Amino acid sequence: MERKVMNFNIDWLYIPENTSDGDKVYCDESGFEKISLPHTNKILPHHYFNEDDYRFVSWYRKHFRIDKKYEGKKIYVHFEGVMTIAKVYVNGNYVGEHKGGYTPFELDITNYIKYGDNDNLIAVQVDSNKHPEIPPEGYIVDYMLFGGIYRNVFIKIVNEFHIKDVYFVVDKLDKYSAEVLISTTLQGTKINGSKILTEIINKDGEVCSSSIIDVEEIEKEIIQKIKIDNPLTWHPDHPHLYSVVVKLIVNNTVLDDYTFKTGLRTVYFGDDGKFYINGEPLKLRGLNRHQTFPYVGGAMPDRVQRKDADILKYELGLNYVRTSHYPQAVSFLERCDEIGLLVFEEIPGWQHIGDNEWKHIAKENVKEMILRDRNHPCIFMWGVRINESLDDHEFYTQTNKIAHTLDRSRPTGGVRYLRDSEKLEDVFTYNDFIYNLEGKIQLPNHSKYLVTEYLGHMYPTKSYDNLQRLINHARLHALIQDKQYGIPNMAGASGWCAFDYNTTSAFGSGDNICYHGVSDIFRLPKFAAHFYRSQADPQLYGAYVFIASYLIPSFEEENGDKLLIFSNCDSVSLYINNKFLKLLSPNRVDFPSLPHPPFEVSLKEVGIDYMDVRVNNAEISAIGIINGIEVAKHTLRPYDKPYKLILKSDDTELYADGGDCTRVTVAVVDRNDSVLPYANIPVIFEINENGELIGENPLTLEAGRGAVYVKSKRKTGKITLKAKSPYVFDESKIELNLKNVEYLFL
Ligand code: GAL
Repeated sequence: MERKVMNFNIDWLYIPENTSDGDKVYCDESGFEKISLPHTNKILPHHYFNEDDYRFVSWYRKHFRIDKKYEGKKIYVHFEGVMTIAKVYVNGNYVGEHKGGYTPFELDITNYIKYGDNDNLIAVQVDSNKHPEIPPEGYIVDYMLFGGIYRNVFIKIVNEFHIKDVYFVVDKLDKYSAEVLISTTLQGTKINGSKILTEIINKDGEVCSSSIIDVEEIEKEIIQKIKIDNPLTWHPDHPHLYSVVVKLIVNNTVLDDYTFKTGLRTVYFGDDGKFYINGEPLKLRGLNRHQTFPYVGGAMPDRVQRKDADILKYELGLNYVRTSHYPQAVSFLERCDEIGLLVFEEIPGWQHIGDNEWKHIAKENVKEMILRDRNHPCIFMWGVRINESLDDHEFYTQTNKIAHTLDRSRPTGGVRYLRDSEKLEDVFTYNDFIYNLEGKIQLPNHSKYLVTEYLGHMYPTKSYDNLQRLINHARLHALIQDKQYGIPNMAGASGWCAFDYNTTSAFGSGDNICYHGVSDIFRLPKFAAHFYRSQADPQLYGAYVFIASYLIPSFEEENGDKLLIFSNCDSVSLYINNKFLKLLSPNRVDFPSLPHPPFEVSLKEVGIDYMDVRVNNAEISAIGIINGIEVAKHTLRPYDKPYKLILKSDDTELYADGGDCTRVTVAVVDRNDSVLPYANIPVIFEINENGELIGENPLTLEAGRGAVYVKSKRKTGKITLKAKSPYVFDESKIELNLKNVEYLFL
């Protein structure tokens, strides 16, 4: 039998209290709620709530059967993430615990299982209280942890003799061939005559290279060197993936198989300060991502995790993301592999270093992170220092050593805010907040140097702030990126941050949100988001043009009559009411180094008195031109009154597993379909019995926009979501199909 990995997310029971008999086989389950994973221990409003609202102990229980045919096999339960301490019991027996919510753990439950028609019970006590002994806690933290079994769980059934782990490294790579090393670790009692067959399979399913080797000793890693001719390399602009299938074979029978997708690429930071991928320099242009979402914290299913990667890559045009400040969902990283988004991943922590027990867990976190993620081509560096902590020579010597022992293919970084702190890592990774309000960052003070944060708290900006602030915010992001592009020996820079996020009472705007994102907490763009999008290569990612303004009468008072236009086109033609005004060139004076400098123009300069725009109810269009061809257009129109609500769902179909979910955005528009940025109106939702609405209802729009999430139940059919507001005429409606889920369990 080959391995069986089964989804274990469905049909759990949950109670948000520490019932005394939660671990027992016979427990009164009448007060438990039927739920599926991922699950948050508490649904919260998107702001104005208390951290203590999710800090409590809860119980999760699940009844399950294991077929008789698996008797004699090894059975493991694998948790991708439980916040913060999980104690696991099977059929009333204590099996083990895990501390820390950002890394996975796996427990062998074979000895406690009953087979056939017998009922088994897994019970998990989840302690989501504050735990100063576990990173990142111990002092104040500028983000929220939330609680619950908030990531996937699965069951793994293997033979007693099986593959424990496989590590894949690209050793040599050029145009003609790749040499990879594959190290396989086995577990169990060795069977004589066993072999390891490893196949590298291309996207068409063809085996393009393979190797077979006898298993000599199982205490040591089994190393295979495989050559792949004419490799298709992995790069953000062409993220080719291969499947690696490792089989443990005895007498022509496959005892186990271990499959994963990976890419052929090399990464390093050169002595010239540049970041190299496949031997070619690449400027890293990124933002930081917190994994939390409104209402549910981190508890979003794979679909929504994957969507975040898509937003970063395609809506924000980035080539790199830092998973501040902890390892994020596996599905997020898998999507980064698929679409070509580089990732700097780091251990949990924020400014504070605790005692020895705390440091022990932090070192475990380094191990767990690297063992989980070292086969992802998207990851180019490990963060092995607590974000912005002080020096600790011994501790960080150890975290670096662990990282280098477990993965020799990637450098380490350690994010700091002190320029004279000790550099034990391979790359000096620095949060630079010094001259950001002048649109500047500092020059490198080390040969391998990456700016890991800028701007954030220096200029928090809400999506509904005044126009001038939104423009300034976007312009500062543009100026700072321009500076980093102008410093050739700087590897790159990632701004703080991609999305607004929930934070603790010591931080943010007093409403539990840090408004530091270029997009809001619902991932809806502020002007700065359009700047990032405009830096992506038009040939690969599409031509783009965006006028960072509103056409409102107060335009003049706030911003003079200047227009700031973000575009990746060669030039932009400006029109007023379809009358051509001027062909604009990028502003290379203020932005000499950006791949695609913004365009800036004063209307007066092009012969337009802004009063005319108002009086004549004019509209302004920017048309992006590449090689003489008009390829993108954005029009600002004078605003009318609220007319209708536009509902948009990120997906058209959900699994009926009770945990699947998608974002539904809502915007109030006028008759011209322009979103009304000051229409902070209430929206009332109605959902049919097939789905669950996650979000505020009524929801007050911010900057004329907002979002809720729609979650499946265990019912098939269709979900219908309707939205209305007293300020618009018609009701809006969307439908989602529900897919059956038999495939998901046993
Ligand atoms: C940094 C910190 C981030 C965030 C940011 C706010 O110092 O690393 O986590 O708090 O400030 O701008």
